[in-house]
Amino acid sequence: MQQKGKDLIRQSDYENYDYRQFWQDNKRLYEDSSERLVIKKFISAIANKDAVFIDLGCGFGRLFSEYRDFSTIILLDYSINNLKNAKELISRYVNNEARLMEKVIFVAADVTRLPLKPDVIDYAMTVRVIHHMDDPGRYFEEVSRVVKTGGIFMLEFANKRNTKNILRFLAGRIKLSPFNAEPLQIGATILDYHPNYIKHKLNQAGFKVKKMVSASNFRLGFLKRHVSLKILLFFESIYQNIFSFIDTGPSIFLKTILVREKCSSGSNENGTNTEKLGSTSPISLFMCPACQSTELFSAGPDKNSPEHIVEHEHIVKHIVCSSCQRQYPVIDGIFDFKV
Ligand SMILES: C[S@@+](CC[C@H](N)C(=O)[O-])C[C@H]1O[C@@H](n2cnc3c(N)ncnc32)[C@H](O)[C@@H]1O
Repeated sequence: MQQKGKDLIRQSDYENYDYRQFWQDNKRLYEDSSERLVIKKFISAIANKDAVFIDLGCGFGRLFSEYRDFSTIILLDYSINNLKNAKELISRYVNNEARLMEKVIFVAADVTRLPLKPDVIDYAMTVRVIHHMDDPGRYFEEVSRVVKTGGIFMLEFANKRNTKNILRFLAGRIKLSPFNAEPLQIGATILDYHPNYIKHKLNQAGFKVKKMVSASNFRLGFLKRHVSLKILLFFESIYQNIFSFIDTGPSIFLKTILVREKCSSGSNENGTNTEKLGSTSPISLFMCPACQSTELFSAGPDKNSPEHIVEHEHIVKHIVCSSCQRQYPVIDGIFDFKV
């Protein structure tokens, strides 16, 4: 990897950029729909939605409608601006229904330093985030810590061994081979990875791949310009269902299960809970990301009711770590655990 580029990869890029622009005017409707096809397939296979779901690097909550049925939903991102936009989008989506908003928890944090206790997550998903990571293995270890044994981790990564790169390499237009494990850097902040490299890192973190889907397989300018979206998605769906073993699409989705044994887990191999969830009030899930203490308490106008924060916006409160005394502000219902 080019060293200069590596230095430029930052978690906070999205604080100064409105990510909604990337998707506006339906210019990426094909990619958005292709990704939803996969996520729908992965999530519809989950019968019991009485579970804790987390969208890691959720952006502005683009994919919320795909996982809205889970009983507790955490949207986590490093960018407060993205989270504010996510909150606005979701409020509109659920028509401001307090009952539905209450099950959604907004958290500002680094995905490689999650402010979550071990073994609290049943289902985790991360889409278009791994391409910002220069050490995906470290990220997977952190996800492995918070996901229960038998829990499911669904992820998407940008595939360096895609058809376009293979053709460019064979034509001598790019030097770096798409076939080796070295990440391919695109611009300043994007890293494309080889599928085998990602699978190896997942394996090391205790995840076993259950399903692989190659997505956005027809992402070519001239096809998007000249073929209708309906027809493109028809062929996309066929490719995803039948030809995904040819994993040369620009975007690869994996559905994995955590097989690493943990002593305190409440899930089984099928990813279903064997133990009823305890309270899923936000504070029962959190851990101090600075000192890893699980002893946190809320401080502010109403000490005994952390949910109060979410219900009554504009009340600025803090989550306080009993161990290191660090204070984490809660502003407009967003828990800010950035350290
Ligand atoms: C390309 S956007 C994808 C957003 C969303 N998953 C989607 O597909 O629409 C990448 C998101 O990851 C977030 N992100 C990048 N690095 C992060 C990190 N280390 N911790 C938390 N969020 C991160 C960015 O703030 C941004 O919102």
